[in-house]
Amino acid sequence: MNWDDTAAPAEAPDGALTADRLVGAAADGEDQAVEAALRPKSLDEFVGQVRVREQLDLVLKAALARGATADHVLLSGAPGLGKTTLSMIIAAEMNAPIRITSGPAIQHAGDLAAILSSLQEGEVLFLDEIHRMSRPAEEMLYMAMEDFRVDVIVGKGPGATAIPLELPPFTLVGATTRAGLLPPPLRDRFGFTAHMEFYEPVELERVVHRSAQLLDVTIEGDGAAEIAGRSRGTPRIANRLLRRVRDYAQVKADGVITRDVAAAALRVYEVDTRGLDRLDRAVLKALLTLFSGGPVGLSTLAVAVGEERETVEEVAEPFLVREGLLARTPRGRVATPAAWTHLGLVPPQQPPGAGGQQGLFGT
Ligand SMILES: Nc1ncnc2c1ncn2[C@@H]1O[C@H](COP(=O)(O)OP(=O)(O)O)[C@@H](O)[C@H]1O
Ligand SMILES: [Mg+2]
Repeated sequence: MNWDDTAAPAEAPDGALTADRLVGAAADGEDQAVEAALRPKSLDEFVGQVRVREQLDLVLKAALARGATADHVLLSGAPGLGKTTLSMIIAAEMNAPIRITSGPAIQHAGDLAAILSSLQEGEVLFLDEIHRMSRPAEEMLYMAMEDFRVDVIVGKGPGATAIPLELPPFTLVGATTRAGLLPPPLRDRFGFTAHMEFYEPVELERVVHRSAQLLDVTIEGDGAAEIAGRSRGTPRIANRLLRRVRDYAQVKADGVITRDVAAAALRVYEVDTRGLDRLDRAVLKALLTLFSGGPVGLSTLAVAVGEERETVEEVAEPFLVREGLLARTPRGRVATPAAWTHLGLVPPQQPPGAGGQQGLFGT
């Protein structure tokens, strides 16, 4: 075999490319420890998402002016875009306490009843991953959201009775990465839905500058831009890359993050200029060099990089598709011209999969 290291399964045991992924959008242990300190505390401090911020500002100010509890708010968007942060900001702007729970933590309707019945008037209930709540809990939530009332079932079988329980008015803030999975009756009960978009590089630069200040790190404009450009439109990733670059700057440079320092650090961590990591590049490289750019089936591609199908499909592909480097077609995965350019490769004159290019514009 004369495959290079990125494509050789023998050198990439299962999961080797995904362990501790620096560009993963989910929060790891370190993120959780540090994020609290980096979270903006008010709408004014919250970077980007201009439309959402403006609309939310109106919703909250109007409620405050009426002396009422704010409407229920649904926040939808990819991991790391600021949903949890925004829920805390909503509570802060309303001068209200916040209770935090999540869909998976609510297994039974009784779990939810216990939380709801202990809320204070005006409290913000943050329900993360709301799409993962159980069905019975969901139905209880409908009534609680609409009428501020729940029926608590006491007893079992024929003797069971429903005892109505009045709730104080509260604001539910639901967060989901999959708004499409929410049943319409639940979605409809939110007075305001915010769709969070990926951030522009200039916005992420501001996030990086802000975090650098909080972490007491000196960073130059170019250095922040370098980190922002590799952060996949996601503040959580920007903050994580900043911390790794800071480490590098302390050990290898004089602690100051310049463009060169940021670029050198991220080269060490194998995050390239577009934010692709080793896994992403391994997938692209296999597609380009072993299959002439495709089309190739997902399973074949997964075997070629020594990863599970699911890993390639769920971990690597979404970003590659978003970046316009890879397309999923009915005939298989196809590389776009941009993929060849990005890896510095020249597409074959007459790629065997040339017909697959049609798939790019197909269904
Ligand atoms: N608009 C923003 N401005 C500044 N920092 C942000 C912004 N959005 C997110 N962050 C930062 O990114 C990290 C992840 O945000 P979080 O709210 O936990 O994302 P989510 O809940 O959507 O996964 C937090 O540390 C937060 O400081
Ligand atoms: Mg969150």
